[in-house]
Amino acid sequence: MMRWLITGGCGFMGSNFIRYWLKNHTEDYILNLDKLTYAGNPDNLKMIENHPHYRFVLGDITDPQAIESLVPEFDGIINFAAETHVDRSIAQPRDFILTDMVGTYNLLEAARFHQKKLIQISTDEVYGNCPSGQNTEQAPLLPGNPYSASKGGADLLCLAYHQTYKVDVMITRSCNCYGPYQYPEKLIPLFITNLLEGKKLPLYGDGSCIREWIYIQDYCSALDIVIQKGKTGEIYNISTGEGIPNLEVTRLILQEMGMSEDLIEMVDDRQGHDRRYSLDASQIRQLGWNPEYLFSMGLKETLQWYRHNENWWRKIKSGEYQQYYRQQYAQRHKKSTLER
Ligand SMILES: NC(=O)c1ccc[n+]([C@@H]2O[C@H](COP(=O)([O-])OP(=O)(O)OC[C@H]3O[C@@H](n4cnc5c(N)ncnc54)[C@H](O)[C@@H]3O)[C@@H](O)[C@H]2O)c1
Repeated sequence: MMRWLITGGCGFMGSNFIRYWLKNHTEDYILNLDKLTYAGNPDNLKMIENHPHYRFVLGDITDPQAIESLVPEFDGIINFAAETHVDRSIAQPRDFILTDMVGTYNLLEAARFHQKKLIQISTDEVYGNCPSGQNTEQAPLLPGNPYSASKGGADLLCLAYHQTYKVDVMITRSCNCYGPYQYPEKLIPLFITNLLEGKKLPLYGDGSCIREWIYIQDYCSALDIVIQKGKTGEIYNISTGEGIPNLEVTRLILQEMGMSEDLIEMVDDRQGHDRRYSLDASQIRQLGWNPEYLFSMGLKETLQWYRHNENWWRKIKSGEYQQYYRQQYAQRHKKSTLER
């Protein structure tokens, strides 16, 4: 039996992972600490709110006291908490530096002091643009925007804490993840929900930027393998190897929804847009992991989910969730703690 402190568990990946973990590791306990930023949505975990092995606490990883008071109770920390949207990082980098770097530093300090395991959830973006070939875990970090720089900085701190203080750290660097419960500002859920609302699809530049894609269930099983079999101090790239230009992703969404390409609206490219990311994921494959979903399959599942869960995303897009529901939830859970 393990007790996990999961940070950022009300976001897209964290909430999917919490549900996955409780289903597949029935003995374990989880405390989810989340600040409930615009991206943190308690609805993502409504179905397990009363699960006997799960608790939520409202908290901020940039607050060292909040972390310090909780960490001693747990065997390990899994850090999903981050500011994650590249466009927002270009407009206002400050919160990215604070949460992604200083927040991770606070978790590392607590892990060091209390001798706990820390799993850092990172991204392929830290390697920066990859014009050809694939980045192994040894490739230099050349982040191209404030989001990836703050994630890269956190990764370097993790590695330094492992070497200097022997903190038990592992890092996963994943390609673009997609699936249910992803905030509709990211490409796939934005485009699906725009189409469901009869709106156009704003595609950056000429749509030639290439990203690799992984369905969230495959990411969860990859992280599971890293937790079970990974070596301390190691980094694990996680990718399916399915690199697809954004224009192609957009066309596939339109095709799947039976809609016309006239709905594509080319908009000015993102500042400093990295053209291509590509990961060498042979290390995690050697641990025995293989993805189950081709992009075409995962996209179908995702589309179905957004079709059947209009209430979830309409509340976000209309601003109803932001203005009212989230504050109510935050008040209710202010004093919540892990009861065992
Ligand atoms: N989504 C992807 O494609 C992708 C790919 C690779 C890596 N990642 C990484 O995975 C992690 C999760 O990504 P996501 O897409 O689920 O993000 P998300 O934006 O959906 O969720 C982030 C969560 O972190 C919480 N949070 C933000 N600041 C916080 C703070 N200071 N203290 C506590 N909680 C805070 C938010 O409330 C939210 O619940 C991030 O670290 C991200 O860098 C994401």
